[in-house]
Amino acid sequence: MEQANRWRADFPVLSETVHGKRLVYLDNAATSQVPTQVLERLKQHYETEHANIHRGIHYLSELSTGAVEDARKKVNDFLNGEASKCVIFTSGTTDSIHLVSASYRETLYPGQGIIVTELEHHSNYVPWQQACKLSGADFYVCPQKDGELDLDVMEQLLKEHEIALVAAAHVTNLTGTVNSIQEIVKLAHRYGAKVLIDGAQGILHEGIDVSEADCDYYCFSGHKMLAPTGIGVLYGKSEALEALQKIRYGGGMVDLVTQPLTTWASLPHCLEAGTPNISGIIGLGAAIDYIIEHDPLKMRAWERELLVYAEQELLKIEGLSVMGHPGRRSGALSIDIEGVHPFDLASMADKMGVALRSGNLCAQPALASLGYEKAIRLSPAFYNTKEEIDQCRKAFERIIPMLRKFAD
Ligand code: ALA
Repeated sequence: MEQANRWRADFPVLSETVHGKRLVYLDNAATSQVPTQVLERLKQHYETEHANIHRGIHYLSELSTGAVEDARKKVNDFLNGEASKCVIFTSGTTDSIHLVSASYRETLYPGQGIIVTELEHHSNYVPWQQACKLSGADFYVCPQKDGELDLDVMEQLLKEHEIALVAAAHVTNLTGTVNSIQEIVKLAHRYGAKVLIDGAQGILHEGIDVSEADCDYYCFSGHKMLAPTGIGVLYGKSEALEALQKIRYGGGMVDLVTQPLTTWASLPHCLEAGTPNISGIIGLGAAIDYIIEHDPLKMRAWERELLVYAEQELLKIEGLSVMGHPGRRSGALSIDIEGVHPFDLASMADKMGVALRSGNLCAQPALASLGYEKAIRLSPAFYNTKEEIDQCRKAFERIIPMLRKFAD
C-alpha cells in the first residue's frame, strides 16, 4: 500500500477532485494515466528537439530522428523482440490489427479461414470478420466457457480447416482472462497458421516476452501503458512483417518511385507511411523507462492483490455477480448487479468521484456468450489502493438501493 502511494505521487491527475469528491480512477483498461516523468519528456521534446524525422539534414531533425529510433529500440528491448526493425509504430492496437488484417484481406481466398475467439474486443474480431467476408474466406470463432477459451475446439478447427491465422487477446478487456498464448501459438503453428496477439490489456498488467511467446504479431497501445493516446505498436517477426502487403502508401515508405513502378523501403519504414506521431513515440519510450525503473513485477503483484480484493469485497453486495471465472485474471473485473442498469450505476458512481466503464465494453460477442448485454467494469492499476476499492464498494452500497427502489 505504501508503495502504491509512492507510485501515485507520480500521477498528478490522481489528486484531482471530480464533482467535489476525490477522484477514484478505476478505468485503466480504457486508458491508463500518464506519470510526470512522461509529461516532462514530452515537454522537453517540444521545447528542445521538435522537428520532422528522417527528412531533413538539420540539427533538430537529427535530434528528433534519434529520439524516435531510441524509442523503437526501447520497445524492442521491452518486448525482448528480434530487432528494432520489427517494431512498427501505429496509432494504437486497432490500427496495428488493421495493418495486418488489411493485408490478409488481399491474400485470403475461399477455402482458407481465420480463427478469432469469443472473448475478443471488437477491434480483434470485426476486422477479421470483414476480411473473411470480402475475400470469401471462412470466419471461425473459438468458444469460451465461463471466461476460459475452449482450446480443444480451437485445435479441432485448426485440424479440419486451412487456417491462415489465429487472432486472440493476451488479456481480455471484459473478463480479464489471461489467455495461454504460448499454448495457442504452439497449437496454431503445429497446423501452419500464424498468430496475432492483441496485447492491449496484456502489455502493462502481464508484460510479454515475444521471443518466448513465439507469436508472429503482437499489437498494443501506448495509452494503456502510461504513454499518451494516439501511439501504438505492431511488433512482428521480420518474416511475418515482410510477408505483409503494402497497404498504406506515402513518402518515406518507398525506395524508388518511377512511372511504371515503385519499390519499397526496408523494415520498419515500408510499413510506416506518413509523418508518425513523433511525440507519442517519444512518450512511449519514456513510459517504458518509467515501467522498467519502477519494478514491473511489484506493480503486477499489487494489481493482482487489488483484483482479488475487489472481487472478494464486491461479492458481499447482494445480487452482484462477477462475469467469468478464468483460471487467471488480470487488469479487469466486470460485474452484473440484479435490478441495476450499468449505465445508471456508473453515472451515479461518477457523481461520487468513482470512474468506471459501463456498457457493452466493445465486446458484444463476449458478453452475449456469457449471457449478458452490458457490464460494469472496474480496472485497477498499480497506483490504485484498497481504500479506493472500499470507496467504490461504499458508493455501490449507497447507489444500489436507490436504483432498485426507483425500478420498483
Ligand atoms: N478498449 C478499451 C476498453 O476496453 C477502450 O475500455
